[in-house]
Amino acid sequence: MNTITLTQPDDWHAHLRDGKALERTVPDLASQFHRAICMPNLVPPVKTVEEALAYRARIMAHVPEGVAFDPRMVLYLTDHTSPDEIQKIKHSEHVNAVKLYPAGATTNSANGVSDIRNVYAVLEQLEKYQIPLLLHGEVTHSHIDIFDREKRFLDEVLQPVIQQFSDLKIVLEHITTADAAQFVLAQGRKVAATITPQHLLFNRNDMLVGGIKPHFYCLPILKRQSHQTTLLEVATSGNPKFFLGTDSAPHAQDAKENACGCAGCYSAFTAIELYAQAFDQVGKIERLEGFSSHFGADFYGLPRNTQQITLVKEDFVIPESFDYLEDQKIIPLLAGKTLQWRKM
Ligand code: DOR
Ligand code: ZN
Repeated sequence: MNTITLTQPDDWHAHLRDGKALERTVPDLASQFHRAICMPNLVPPVKTVEEALAYRARIMAHVPEGVAFDPRMVLYLTDHTSPDEIQKIKHSEHVNAVKLYPAGATTNSANGVSDIRNVYAVLEQLEKYQIPLLLHGEVTHSHIDIFDREKRFLDEVLQPVIQQFSDLKIVLEHITTADAAQFVLAQGRKVAATITPQHLLFNRNDMLVGGIKPHFYCLPILKRQSHQTTLLEVATSGNPKFFLGTDSAPHAQDAKENACGCAGCYSAFTAIELYAQAFDQVGKIERLEGFSSHFGADFYGLPRNTQQITLVKEDFVIPESFDYLEDQKIIPLLAGKTLQWRKM
């Protein structure tokens, strides 16, 4: 197959940041996706519907002329989020979900939730109104090995939550392990997961063998190859519980190539080509459309897009870098490397 036409995809997990960063991130993401879940881990975080709508307006100001881009907004859950705020989401046209970051788990998560039991009253409202809870699924205790943090979250945090709130809609974001894939498979249809391009294309050897490659460093961290294999299996299985979420996360080159480098891979501009590469490598390119363009919309209860895009099997060289902020650069995922698929 040398060309493939897909319903226009959506990105159910993206970081656009704020201010001048939007000049880079919004056109890049809008060149690929119609809708995107815009993560709320700004400084300070997006905690109310009012703040989310103001953030959305700042994003919209950077959408290029003639491009139809529809940012879907998310509130950042804290120990102090009021259950009343959830009702406002239900009445909002543009806010679709709430994101739970365990405090300290990742970039800008200091205001996150310190113990999930602190927000059970909020979860009750989410369940009542059928608003998805998006999870960064890692525990944060310092004595727990970084490679085990996702699995421990499933056992210690998520299982009890599902027991208590069996009708709650949950997206386990950016899953990285076979344990998470199997956990999601074992739940009812209210529990789904996003998968990033980096976790389909790479494993920890790509990041660590032959020298540390900071542009592969993201959270949750890349795991061993057997986990990558299972993620590829479920992503390409046609099971609607698994859908596209890039977790594209811009960090300036200096902040990545640093003695204490930031977590995040930037894939906004080349995401669908990266996913096409991953699906084609296992002979499943025909399964890309469901994953990239149908299952996420269905889960969120939003209409599928009506526009289409076409990918052609032709070499595509990922740019070495992009300009970012005043005088900085972003190094995209797989900078300078050649992919076999290109969006027309
Ligand atoms: O690698 C990551 N980067 N993981 C996250 O959870 C957050 C993200 C960011 O905001 O930079
Ligand atoms: Zn993220």
